[in-house]
Amino acid sequence: MKDEANEADEANEANRERLRGKRILLGVTGSIAAYKSAELVRLLRAAGAEVQVVLSRGGSAFITPLTLQALSGRPVRHQHLDPDSEAAMGHIELARWADVVLVAPASADFLARLAQGRADDLLAAVCLASESPLAVAPAMNRQMWEQPATRENLACLAARGVSVFGPESGEQACGEVGEGRMREPAMLAADLAGLFESGVLQGVRVLVNAGPTREPLDPVRFLSNRSSGRMGYALARAAQEAGAAVTLVSGPVALSPPERVVCQRVETAEEMRAAVLDAAGVADLFIAAAAVADYRPRQVAGDKLKKSSPRLTLELERTPDILAEVAALAAPPFTVGFAAETTNVEHYARAKLAAKGLDLIVANQVGGTQGGFEAQDNAVTVYWPGGAKSFPLMAKDKLARLLVTLIAERYHAKNPAQDS
Ligand SMILES: Cc1cc2nc3c(=O)[nH]c(=O)nc-3n(C[C@H](O)[C@H](O)[C@H](O)COP(=O)(O)O)c2cc1C
Repeated sequence: MKDEANEADEANEANRERLRGKRILLGVTGSIAAYKSAELVRLLRAAGAEVQVVLSRGGSAFITPLTLQALSGRPVRHQHLDPDSEAAMGHIELARWADVVLVAPASADFLARLAQGRADDLLAAVCLASESPLAVAPAMNRQMWEQPATRENLACLAARGVSVFGPESGEQACGEVGEGRMREPAMLAADLAGLFESGVLQGVRVLVNAGPTREPLDPVRFLSNRSSGRMGYALARAAQEAGAAVTLVSGPVALSPPERVVCQRVETAEEMRAAVLDAAGVADLFIAAAAVADYRPRQVAGDKLKKSSPRLTLELERTPDILAEVAALAAPPFTVGFAAETTNVEHYARAKLAAKGLDLIVANQVGGTQGGFEAQDNAVTVYWPGGAKSFPLMAKDKLARLLVTLIAERYHAKNPAQDS
């Protein structure tokens, strides 16, 4: 009994961890079960998720925006084709913002509109414009649920990759007993957490390096760069959530390592090289997201340099090329490089892919307004021999999950024998 309770606690804790920091767009449509959405918002917020509620046309007849706003901490959106709302976070931005869209409750009418690809209210338009995973929790009277029209709409949505949570059987608001009750909020929160656990890297040993390196000049000064480590940390978390056993080798950054990731902190390029080569021998996949210094001071002064002369010339020497060394190992892991370029991004990225014998390269333009170093958002293009895919500007966490999905696809395409 006690073991079961412990297991349940552990599962709840794991679900809360998966939901922490996730951006959830919760659609609420015209069903009596809308009152349960308030509790769902509360649970998701308690797990550390950000929740943006969007009410459908019918939804606002069942629950007030004020309740959902108070619980979510964000103004509820429901107006469609409204210039003021569009000027804030318009329907496209809402769609991009979300890591996942959950419609709970999902009315029969809304499911029909979704299946038809309509965009006749804000929620339907957001669903249509979103690239993020979409889930629905149907809630309706038993008769409505059993209608062939409803079942066909659901089958069509499921075939398009929409996750369907529930419904459950039991007593209904109309007094009937049967299938059609919305799943309880706690179960929906667990279902949602499960969406972030794709399993595409189950059992794969992933090594990620992240952050800048510091190359000392004297005991108090160093040369470094603007890397915040956010992209690498987000990739480590996304790979862990995808089922991988992750080791993170990190330069000095102001971030806490993700849960259940083994983290080793280093400072210099030389230290990073040693840690990465040590771990690469047992890694299946290496994601080189660190901004390792290309050059370091040739001499490191034993004492603090004095400002005695008007000019100081530093002589620099190359640091080891960690990525090239890993790719050149006798049995290298599947190797993913990053290219941060200010100009000619595709040209330099493809050249680096070929020269270093990488499996895949993630290129981003830095120095402009499109994210990159120090930013929360990033836009990248991924190149591999014979292919390319672009990702528009989005939060690094979300981008990391999409990149991990693509990396996993390429990894499994190269290693079919290792798939079960
Ligand atoms: C009191 C009442 C309860 C309703 N409950 C449900 C319900 O649980 N599920 C459902 O699919 N429709 C239900 N409906 C019908 C929907 O509210 C109606 O189809 C509405 O247009 C749906 O709007 P939406 O597409 O914006 O969700 C109910 C209607 C009323 C008047």
